[in-house]
Amino acid sequence: MQQQLAEIEARALAAVHEAKSAEQLAELKVAYLGKKGEITSVSRMMGQLSPEERPVLGAAVNQAKSNVEQAVARRMAELKAEEQNARLASEVIDVTLPGRRISKGGRHILSLVQEQMEDIFIGMGYTVEEGPQVEYDYYNFEALNLPPEHPARDMQDSFYFSERMLLRTQTSPVQVRTMEKMGGKLPVKIISPGVVYRRDDDATHSPMFHQMEGLLIDERVTFADLNGTLLAFARQMFGAEREVRMRPSYFPFTEPSAEVDISCFNCGGKGCRLCKGSGWIEVLGSGQVHPKVLEMSGYDPEKCSGFAFGMGIERIAMLKYGITDLRLMYDNDVRFLSSF
Ligand code: DAH
Repeated sequence: MQQQLAEIEARALAAVHEAKSAEQLAELKVAYLGKKGEITSVSRMMGQLSPEERPVLGAAVNQAKSNVEQAVARRMAELKAEEQNARLASEVIDVTLPGRRISKGGRHILSLVQEQMEDIFIGMGYTVEEGPQVEYDYYNFEALNLPPEHPARDMQDSFYFSERMLLRTQTSPVQVRTMEKMGGKLPVKIISPGVVYRRDDDATHSPMFHQMEGLLIDERVTFADLNGTLLAFARQMFGAEREVRMRPSYFPFTEPSAEVDISCFNCGGKGCRLCKGSGWIEVLGSGQVHPKVLEMSGYDPEKCSGFAFGMGIERIAMLKYGITDLRLMYDNDVRFLSSF
C-alpha cells in the first residue's frame, strides 16, 4: 500500500508540474486530494491493515497530501507570474506621451470682488456680519421703518413664504439684527455681504443677487463721515483719482438719504458711453440712520447717530470689469469665468 501511495504521489506531482492553467490545477486538486480523490481513497483501505500498520500509513497519506498541496500552490504562483510577464511583454507603453493636464480651479468673480470690498472696509475697522436669507417681514421691512402697506415696499417685491416670512430683498435687515445683538453698545461698525432676492429679471437685474450693507453708529457720526468713508472706498476700489458725489434721495430707513455716484473711471469724468455722457456712475444708496430705526432697535437717537449704505456686488463687479450682461456671472461658462 505504501508503494501504491508513493506511485500515486509521483504521478500527482508530475501532473501538477505540467499543468498549464489555474483551472487545470483545480481539477488535479480534486482528482488527487478531493473526497473521492486517489490519495484520499488510499486511507480508506486502512481497514485492511493491522492496528500497528495503520498509523504508519496514516502518516504517509498526510505527508503525501501536504506534498501535493504545496506543489499545487507553487505551480499556481508560477503560472500567475508567467501570465503577468506575458502581459507586460505584449503591452506597449509610450513613455513619450504627454501627461494629462489637471485643470486648475479658480475663484468666481463675485467672490473675488466681494473679498476686495470686504478687505477695504476691514482695513477701516469694520467687522463682517451675516444674516439669514429667509427673513422675517419685521427685519426686512418693519424695523427699517417700512410698516405694512408702506408704498416703498412695492419697489422690492419679493418671494413670500407666508405673510411673516420672505426671501430678504436687501441686506439692510442685518442692520437691525446687529443692533439688537449689540444691545445698545457703541460703536456698531459692520459690513454685511450676502445674497438677496427680488422679482426682477433682465440684463442688469437678476432674481437672486448680492449686496453689501454697511452700518456705523457712534456718538456724533455725521454725513461728512459717510462721505469720507465712501470716498475712501471708491478710491481703493476704482482708483486714487475718483471723486464722490451725493444726490438727495429717499430710503425709509435713512434721513437724509443719498444716492452716491463716483466719477467715471473710464473717461475720468469727461463723459463717455459707460457713464452715459454724465461723467458720473451711480454705485450705491446711503444716508443717516433714521431716528425711528435706531429707537426700534434699542438705540437712543439723542445720544448717538449713524450712517448706513448698501450696494450691489454684481454692479460693482460689472463696473470694475466692464461686464455688460449680469447673467454672464451665473452662466458658469468657464471661458468667461477664467478671464478674471
Ligand atoms: N437696501 C437698499 C436697497 O436695496 C440700499 C440701501 C440704501 C441700503 C440706503 C442702506 C441705505 O443701508 O442707507 O435698495
